[in-house]
Amino acid sequence: MSYQNNLISDYERLAGFYESITKEAEGIVYDIGTGSGILSAWAAPYANFIYAVEKNSFVARETRSFLNDFRNISFIEGDACKIQFPEKADLIICEMLDTALIDEEQVPVLNSVLKYLKKNGKVIPQGVINIAEPVYMEAEHLYYEETGKPSHYTMGSLMVFSKYDFRKPINPCADFDLKFKIIKNGILNGVKITTFTLITSNTICGPTPMLNPPLMIPTKELRVRKGDIITVNLKYTMGGGLDTIRNEIKEIF
Ligand SMILES: C[S@@+](CC[C@H](N)C(=O)[O-])C[C@H]1O[C@@H](n2cnc3c(N)ncnc32)[C@H](O)[C@@H]1O
Repeated sequence: MSYQNNLISDYERLAGFYESITKEAEGIVYDIGTGSGILSAWAAPYANFIYAVEKNSFVARETRSFLNDFRNISFIEGDACKIQFPEKADLIICEMLDTALIDEEQVPVLNSVLKYLKKNGKVIPQGVINIAEPVYMEAEHLYYEETGKPSHYTMGSLMVFSKYDFRKPINPCADFDLKFKIIKNGILNGVKITTFTLITSNTICGPTPMLNPPLMIPTKELRVRKGDIITVNLKYTMGGGLDTIRNEIKEIF
């Protein structure tokens, strides 16, 4: 299946975006990282004009011909960070999400493009909420849990460790002390990260196959007991890729 087909076959991802875009699109819209082009196509009946930007030339080849049929969409092949837009946006659609914003360019791209957002302009999605939990995982390497079949056991309580609002610039350097309460005796050897997307302030979308599958990060193996409090320091660079992830078990009580 092509990349575009994968994107438009993920109905859970699309349902939330469809509702929000058809409600919020008006005036000048940017669709940054337009991918399949589907989000621009939905915005087109409600917007005056749309700038749809795609950096990947392989993706652009197919999407250009799809979006060419819309009279109020300008398709631009290029890096959104380097484009000088001729007018400011009422709405920026930027869906380059991935779990905890680590592996895709959502944060650096939005940090660069936000200067073109009108005062009181909107961003879809509007933000994310990141959750961590301590786990015992069968694999010893980092992976996305894409099948929906858990390959781990939960060892402690969940915690919300960060929330981001995409209407404001974001520091891409993440550095968090994750404090977990252990709920059973056993072995801790990983942290599971789950990201929820706030498409608008009142539409939230959990992980779907093409949107933020849970990320399983291995840690040093540690024998734990019910009631222990464990602090894991987690660092990464948003938009820097999975290789930037570092973790260290700091404290055990
Ligand atoms: C998750 S996909 C987009 C999904 C798309 N919104 C859809 O619904 O089909 C992210 C897209 O952003 C593009 N992209 C990544 N960095 C970019 C940049 N700096 N400028 C423009 N496009 C970029 C990628 O090539 C990819 O096609």
